[in-house]
Amino acid sequence: MASPWVLLLIFSLSLLCLRGWSQNTKPDQDLEYECVDIDKQPSLQHPQLKNHQIQMRPSDELLAMLSREALSQNLSNADEALVEFDIPEEGCPQGQVPIHKPRRLNHSENSFHPNGETLVQHFAMIKKIDDNPWRGTTAVVGINQPQVINNDQFSLALMMLTTKYDGESTTAWFDWAVFPEIYGDTRTRLTAYWTPDTDVNGCYNVRCKGFVQINKRIFLGAPFAKISVKGGQQYSAFFSITQDPKTNNFLVTVGNNYIGYWPEEILPLFNDGGAEMVRFGGVTNTRSDGLQSYEIISPQMGNGNKPLEDEVDLKHTSFMHSIKYVTQDYQIVDIDDNNFTEDADAGKCFDVSYLGKFGRFGKSFTFGGPGGLCDV
Ligand SMILES: *[C@@H]1O[C@H](CO)[C@@H](O)[C@H](O)[C@H]1NC(C)=O
Ligand SMILES: *[C@@H]1O[C@H](CO)[C@@H](O)[C@H](O)[C@H]1NC(C)=O
Ligand SMILES: *[C@@H]1O[C@H](CO)[C@@H](O)[C@H](O)[C@H]1NC(C)=O
Repeated sequence: MASPWVLLLIFSLSLLCLRGWSQNTKPDQDLEYECVDIDKQPSLQHPQLKNHQIQMRPSDELLAMLSREALSQNLSNADEALVEFDIPEEGCPQGQVPIHKPRRLNHSENSFHPNGETLVQHFAMIKKIDDNPWRGTTAVVGINQPQVINNDQFSLALMMLTTKYDGESTTAWFDWAVFPEIYGDTRTRLTAYWTPDTDVNGCYNVRCKGFVQINKRIFLGAPFAKISVKGGQQYSAFFSITQDPKTNNFLVTVGNNYIGYWPEEILPLFNDGGAEMVRFGGVTNTRSDGLQSYEIISPQMGNGNKPLEDEVDLKHTSFMHSIKYVTQDYQIVDIDDNNFTEDADAGKCFDVSYLGKFGRFGKSFTFGGPGGLCDV
């Protein structure tokens, strides 16, 4: 029989937990996030992060690299404006961070990965073909809102880093997604994904423990306020995933905002120089349960337009521009045309067009398409 002291201890501990919880959270009917003490956020309960020292800001070295990039992104396309998020200006109180709680969903910490067998995925991307590892990547990404037909579909834009070794795989990606199944709506939202161990157990945002939120306002899952207009006003944001030379953590930023990071402990295969495989572009998914291939309707990708043969101003089709990467010695440099190739799997519906150095936009490509019956 358990000693009464042990039982008392367990009881007091659970009381502490309950009290801790109610003190550290600030439920608010109107907000789709909850403010949590930064050092009590669920991610830090990850078993490998027991003695983790929170990285409150990028190291001076990384800050210098990134602000140079973020400032030099010359949004001189007269119609290209900087990104804004549709979330309250004040964010969380000092010392707390927002954790997304989608309004129309029951929040769960479970990892999420769709059942691969009933999904039809398409992509239109550029991919790196050499195997020199990168310590990160930066790009200016247009913000669009592809239409999805039902809640089982999603459509996203990403920059994705992967390393595979000996049957194991580590992946992390970042940018935006329209994804009703995890968000409960069809807005375009800041989105990240990573695989704690193998590809099979990946998860989005903070749905499993690991990603450490630092920004007190902008969180993974935050909706973008403005969406680019085909042929008109473009909204875009500078996105980066970069390894910090001082801490080895992988930090993500949007514009001049440090959002948070994946601690080096949880992206193990990246610790030997970074990621070997890198892709940029669009991905769509739809369910195929019980359907014949000629019945499967894919959602839009990007802004729904395919790339033009003669692109002039990056206003017609979804784009990424100023694409750069972080070298082994932490320089941020343009990608090399010779080491990239276009890769799209459903030319009928979606396409990608690598533009190389595209005037003042730097290294660029366009991608996307209308979706529809892609599998016939
Ligand atoms: C941005 O580009 C425009 C047009 O090429 C140029 O006139 C301007 O000097 C550039 N600004 C910066 C800060 O580089
Ligand atoms: C959330 O959970 C409650 C209680 O289990 C349930 O009644 C409700 O339908 C759920 N909502 C959604 C959107 O699944
Ligand atoms: C491109 O790939 C070649 C062959 O692997 C390599 O020698 C070169 O350094 C790569 N270029 C860049 C910029 O990484």
